[in-house]
Amino acid sequence: YKRVTVKSLVDMKKNGEKISMLTAYDYSMAKIVDAANVDVILVGDSASNVMAGHETTLPITLDQMIYHASSVIRAIDRALVVVDLPFGTYQSDPKKALHSAIRIMKESGAHAVKLEGGEEIKESIKKILNAGIPVMGHLGLTPQSIYKFGTYTVRAKEEEEAEKLMKDAKMLEKLGCFGVVVEKIPAELTKAVSESISIPTIGIGGGKHADGQVLVIHDLLGMTHEFNPRFLRRYMNLYEEMSAAISNYVDDVKSRDFPNDEEQY
Ligand code: KIV
Ligand code: NA
Repeated sequence: YKRVTVKSLVDMKKNGEKISMLTAYDYSMAKIVDAANVDVILVGDSASNVMAGHETTLPITLDQMIYHASSVIRAIDRALVVVDLPFGTYQSDPKKALHSAIRIMKESGAHAVKLEGGEEIKESIKKILNAGIPVMGHLGLTPQSIYKFGTYTVRAKEEEEAEKLMKDAKMLEKLGCFGVVVEKIPAELTKAVSESISIPTIGIGGGKHADGQVLVIHDLLGMTHEFNPRFLRRYMNLYEEMSAAISNYVDDVKSRDFPNDEEQY
């Protein structure tokens, strides 16, 4: 396998090749995602929702992110593995941000980190980049700020917020970030941003003009079934398939069909 690097992602943008990115949080899932040639695996703090059952991404800890990331790293041969810095580990103090990023790199073996925000966290991003750690940005709907926004609706529909987003994207490029996630913003804004910077934009609810796309794997597989945003394309209904399989197992145990004569020693 030829490993994906931060440089190959920037080259993909240059060559007009779209980038595929998907979350994974554990070894078995990451093994499948990597073998399917997904370019970037994101160990997202969405683990707080889909793995731990929290309502928001805020509660997940650095130790928990490192546990997920190290499980993913053990599974991959090809993909670039990016890990979210969780809420509270980088916003206040650049030194603390660097310490958090170093812990992720050292203790999990991940390849890069992702941080939410622009101008507000500029010094933290600089500090991490100066240590040689690749950084991916994340603008638009940044879920760690959900209590500031109040809702999960589309961001940057108004001129002022759109202008700030554009400015932040250019700043991230200038600092030396290798890419930026744009979450739930108008397609036309994604287009304008993507055309204005040389590093790839990775969209989730950002429309067709992003240089790449990212989804939460549980959503793509249809394991989550109460979450129905417009941007989500489901490629399976795994919730139903798993429910049926598990019900069959329960029935077979109750009816003494499982195990049969061939399934015992
Ligand atoms: O945590 C996550 O899964 C993310 C993506 C949705 C971009 O940040
Ligand atoms: Na995230």
